[in-house]
Amino acid sequence: MILIDGKKAAAELREELKHEVEGLKAKYNKVPGLTVILIGDLTPSQIYVRNKEKSANEVGLKSEVLKYPDSVEEKTILEKIEELNKDETVSGILVQLPLPKHIDKQKVIETILPSKDVDGFHPMNVGNLSSGYESSVPCTPLGCYLLIKKVEPNLSGKKAVIIGRSNLNGKPMTQLLLKENCTVTITHSKTKDLKAECLEADIIVAAVGIPELVKGDWVKKDTIVIDVGINKIENGIVGDVDFDEVSKNAKALTPVPGGVGPMTIACLLKNTIECFKRSQI
Ligand code: GUN
Repeated sequence: MILIDGKKAAAELREELKHEVEGLKAKYNKVPGLTVILIGDLTPSQIYVRNKEKSANEVGLKSEVLKYPDSVEEKTILEKIEELNKDETVSGILVQLPLPKHIDKQKVIETILPSKDVDGFHPMNVGNLSSGYESSVPCTPLGCYLLIKKVEPNLSGKKAVIIGRSNLNGKPMTQLLLKENCTVTITHSKTKDLKAECLEADIIVAAVGIPELVKGDWVKKDTIVIDVGINKIENGIVGDVDFDEVSKNAKALTPVPGGVGPMTIACLLKNTIECFKRSQI
């Protein structure tokens, strides 16, 4: 079994991006800039944002985090985004989710200029991705895609089963694999026989948020399994895949932690650099 090392893959990608930023600096005499907006004091969000900032600095991006209290008015955030949209030193804008209830998430997403939307959440980017045009691609599915390609560069004709239909993961993952000529099945909580679907799969991407859902006897021996889940249980964190069981059967598997997570952040940096490059044309 191949244990897919997301930490190592992310470190390699960051190294590539660091060289790319050096090249851009030499060419344009400026570096891509990422601004992250963090509202409230949720611990996971704070940890994510700290890691994003650290990684951005490591590859030489200009990085800024703007923090607001939970009570901040929606209008304040929208006005700040408008200001960042006009700021030429800002290549990418990310508003950390989830947001407090009184702030309309979709309004926030749609206020970010599509060309600075490093999350790929703006309807314009969602539409472009599904039409096969150039777009920002959400960081987590992009990271999953790059890990799958490392194990199997030629995905044409492979059967992929996605578990979970979220806008964040399942749907964009589908688009990325369709572009590679996979036959893609999207499954979800109302799917009749999930095990039977998984047993057909050459690739499984589990992104549903149910601890250790995917069992050893759901997986063929030549299947690549990508675990997007981060589930808190009594004694630690587990993914959506039963690691002990599936690692005995699958061809390749990502661990949790140390699989998809580090790649998500590296892909955010990649997206920021792509937004910068497109803005220089
Ligand atoms: N919160 C958890 N994951 C994400 C993500 O990919 N982007 C944003 N903006 N917030 C998140």
